[in-house]
Amino acid sequence: HSFHRRSLLIEVIVEDRVLEICIDRPDAKNALTLAMYDAMTAALEQAESSDDVRVVLFRGSHGVFTSGNDLQDFIEDPPLGEDTPVFRFLQKIVSFEKPVVAAVDGWAVGIGTTMLFHCDLVYASKRAKLKMPFVDLALVPEAGSSLILPRMLGHQKAAELLFFSKKISAEEGEKLGFINEVVDPDDLLELARKRAKKLAELAPNSLRLTKRLLMNAHHHRLEDAMSAEGALFKELLQSSEFSEAVSAFFEKRKPDFG
Ligand code: COA
Repeated sequence: HSFHRRSLLIEVIVEDRVLEICIDRPDAKNALTLAMYDAMTAALEQAESSDDVRVVLFRGSHGVFTSGNDLQDFIEDPPLGEDTPVFRFLQKIVSFEKPVVAAVDGWAVGIGTTMLFHCDLVYASKRAKLKMPFVDLALVPEAGSSLILPRMLGHQKAAELLFFSKKISAEEGEKLGFINEVVDPDDLLELARKRAKKLAELAPNSLRLTKRLLMNAHHHRLEDAMSAEGALFKELLQSSEFSEAVSAFFEKRKPDFG
């Protein structure tokens, strides 16, 4: 059963029981628009309900994973509630029961990094670069990263990454524990597909329950963290600090926070 659909800069391919979600918007470094979040959520829903799909694989294109949320969309149509495309996407990936693999090449910014914390296996190329520039944008962390990072790194290392929007290389990500393997860019997709295919051959119910058990320990705390983050994120999206940060990005200048 092979399947191929292309809509709104998100390409969905099903092959060998792996549903591949490819982010493909090269002119904006694969920045995610509202329609793209909706397309990814729909793809996850399809993967969830289809017996033909055992595993999901996320990847970018043109040497970029994603530059995160589209900054123009943040201004024009900010996600101010829980029933918004970005929140629905996050809820879906956080509660997704089948295994999720990610192949990260080039930049993975903002949600491009935080969504990886909810993938089960993450493969990266040597030139992968990750960062969570929430403070740079005068926002707060999302996707439960405010809970996950200090648990993974301790408070000080987490604070350093978030306060300074510090860049993380693939090798550092591997050392920190959220990247499984780092390979040459040319080998990345083959490796991720090989691992995804291997997962698709394993006992699906056992995998689903194993994933559920791994998640059990922090599932409720994650929900709490995400709603606390969401409330503050929404407040800051409407702040003058945020307008200044985004104007500065598009005007290619340093922001002035007074
Ligand atoms: N939203 C909208 N447009 C974006 C974007 C985003 N998140 N990221 C990049 N773009 C656009 C740029 O405005 C630029 O457009 P232009 O060609 O019209 O000037 C184009 O994509 C190329 O980006 P550029 O910054 O020139 O590429 P780069 O290789 O120098 O840097 C990044 C790549 C990803 C590091 C950089 O684009 C960046 O920091 N983007 C913003 C990331 C961000 O803050 N995301 C939100 C996190 S919550």
